[in-house]
Amino acid sequence: MRFLVAGGAGFMGSNLVRYLISAHEDAEVLVYDKLTYAGRLENLRGLEGDPRFRFERGDICDGEQLCRVISSYRPDVIVNLAAETHVDRSIRDPEPFIRTNVVGTFALLEAARKLDVPLLIHVSTDEVYGDIGDGPPSAEDSPFKPSSPYSASKAAGDLLCQAYWRTYRLPVRIVRPSNNYGPYQYPEKLIPRVILRAVHNLPIPIYGSGRQVRDWLHVEDFCRALDVVMKRGSNGEAYNVPGFNERTNLEVVEAILDILDKPRSLIRFVADRPGHDTRYAMKGDKILALGWRPQVPWLEGLRRTVQWYLENEWWWRPLLSDSFFSSDIPWG
Ligand SMILES: NC(=O)c1ccc[n+]([C@@H]2O[C@H](COP(=O)([O-])OP(=O)(O)OC[C@H]3O[C@@H](n4cnc5c(N)ncnc54)[C@H](O)[C@@H]3O)[C@@H](O)[C@H]2O)c1
Repeated sequence: MRFLVAGGAGFMGSNLVRYLISAHEDAEVLVYDKLTYAGRLENLRGLEGDPRFRFERGDICDGEQLCRVISSYRPDVIVNLAAETHVDRSIRDPEPFIRTNVVGTFALLEAARKLDVPLLIHVSTDEVYGDIGDGPPSAEDSPFKPSSPYSASKAAGDLLCQAYWRTYRLPVRIVRPSNNYGPYQYPEKLIPRVILRAVHNLPIPIYGSGRQVRDWLHVEDFCRALDVVMKRGSNGEAYNVPGFNERTNLEVVEAILDILDKPRSLIRFVADRPGHDTRYAMKGDKILALGWRPQVPWLEGLRRTVQWYLENEWWWRPLLSDSFFSSDIPWG
């Protein structure tokens, strides 16, 4: 089974590559990645010598290169995780988000269509549903109401995938995971950022009241969900992947401080992010019907994640700039 993992040098992509190689004896994986600031070969360390693993540097917006790589590699499945992913960056500078998440998804769909790729799995997000406040969790057919340039660009990519199924019968499946956490996550994101600031005894800024609710899913559970969608899902369908684990940002920060035995007095409340969504949560009936369940309990997953960062300073030390130590922006 040949996989092409676009964005495989990022957080979820690198975890997925390791998962595919260990879970599928016959898996061969080619990572296609632009290596932006968030994509790092360090995330794939240890795989270089594996004959089942290959890396090609490339941009998903580059249709010609994509077609060349797909024609020569002939993947059975393409998984698209290539994206700009940081909400705060999208507010400061939306252009790269539109380019990669919209135009790049389009280029990938076109390449898959021209070259008759047997299956494309596109990774979308729970953020496409927007802020649900006190309302019921979003189902796959709930309306899209994205709030940030990031989530709007992800919604556009998701809709293009749906259109390519409807119009061309391109064999595409969409997964919409909730917030992932685990090893190799870039320290601009909430959990690694809080861990590393706490390790350095730095103040931990929290947006607004910290009462915003997110649903947390361990990245290993995401990898298993994607595998289940690949094996038992249907073309043209979208699958929510919830963690069934809603937590306020404040709860997340406090849990990390407790694990590290650091005082809660490190917490600082700062002005809220513009357009900040108060809550995301999703129903998971469709993926549950395929037999998937999250397996990593929240506190165990969080402890393991904290431990990974404590043991892998080689990985994060080069990423900490002066602004990491001085900035009072919550993440990024
Ligand atoms: N992390 C989460 O909590 C979460 C939750 C839901 C959905 N998602 C989605 O999952 C996917 C992966 O997220 P992540 O957290 O691993 O992201 P990440 O930022 O860690 O990694 C993104 C990867 O994509 C690569 N990339 C960016 N632009 C590219 C381009 N034009 N061409 C080729 N490669 C490019 C980067 O180099 C990087 O390796 C994204 O689509 C994201 O929207 C993430």
